[in-house]
Amino acid sequence: MSFRTLGFHHITMVSKDAPRTLAFYRELLGLALVKKTVNFDDPGAYHLYFGADGGRPGTILTFFEWPGARRGHWGVGGVHHLALGVATPEAQLMWKRRLTDAGVHVTGPLDRGYFRSLYFADPDGQVLEIATAGPGYAIDEPADALGRELVVPPRERLPDGRDRTAIQALTHPEPVPEVTEAMRLQGIHHVSAITDDLGRAGAFYEEALGLKLVKKTLNQDDAKTKHYFWAAYDGSEVEPHSALTLFDWSGSTYRARPGAGQTHHVAFRAESAEQQAEWREHLLSLGIAVSPVADRTYFESIYFRAPDGLLVEIATDGPGFTVDETAGRLGGDLKLPAWLEARRSAIEGSLVPLP
Ligand SMILES: [Fe+2]
Ligand SMILES: [Fe+2]
Repeated sequence: MSFRTLGFHHITMVSKDAPRTLAFYRELLGLALVKKTVNFDDPGAYHLYFGADGGRPGTILTFFEWPGARRGHWGVGGVHHLALGVATPEAQLMWKRRLTDAGVHVTGPLDRGYFRSLYFADPDGQVLEIATAGPGYAIDEPADALGRELVVPPRERLPDGRDRTAIQALTHPEPVPEVTEAMRLQGIHHVSAITDDLGRAGAFYEEALGLKLVKKTLNQDDAKTKHYFWAAYDGSEVEPHSALTLFDWSGSTYRARPGAGQTHHVAFRAESAEQQAEWREHLLSLGIAVSPVADRTYFESIYFRAPDGLLVEIATDGPGFTVDETAGRLGGDLKLPAWLEARRSAIEGSLVPLP
């Protein structure tokens, strides 16, 4: 039994306002709402799920609505940003135009070598990136020997080598009122988190999740900081939707603060409940404090923390979002697990209806 995840299952973030989050992610970013339910641990609050292809693992973004939440921020033990994939640089520029016209402040596109990056934030302040699919991690190392040597980025990719004015001026020439097929966001491209101990964090992700180091480089916005990438990598190909990158803030005591605009947890894939059960034993054997299995209706979950504090989940691929709604109706009705159905009218009365 090898304990190697295929990549991310979902990312869960915190919203102060479900209607505003729905407008941003569904109307502006064009993601499909695949489930409208409540937080099973706090049924007075929405839990919204967005995803591609009916909620395929690796494309799923979820939001807890906590109207009274204070603003969170990134730091050690937290996620700095979440990147969503897009096919081409041309489509990325269309996103820049669409977002800018909607009043969203956008930075980039910046050439990161392995991909090009466009940055903005959601209405709660969650930092988002749209990253191109290519050219990939093999531009400066052989594809079958990724992550071996420290790669120092060339000067033109570092802040002093950039033409900021030209980058900010670059955009699509026409307004982009609709999300075209070519622009469609392709799920989780990577997640970038912050650690105060890169070696300890790397050992954890390798032993606990089976991720592999695929790039050792420097933060291209702050070349004093190391930036390492882990992913599901079999020695020849990097799985899509699997890259976790860590900024090395060695010795920093500036910790992430949970709250609105922050990532609550990151979930990785287990292929089955049987694999998850064995995985749980494996985690316990490593001395990791892992929760019992929780039934989330659409998948089963176990939770534990990375050594720097990041909350990590392993979620099963199945049974998926069609367990209580047909594929054509996903996200249409407020769905409750069986044990909350008796309280449906009270729960519905406490929630602001969503369009
Ligand atoms: Fe990024
Ligand atoms: Fe989760």
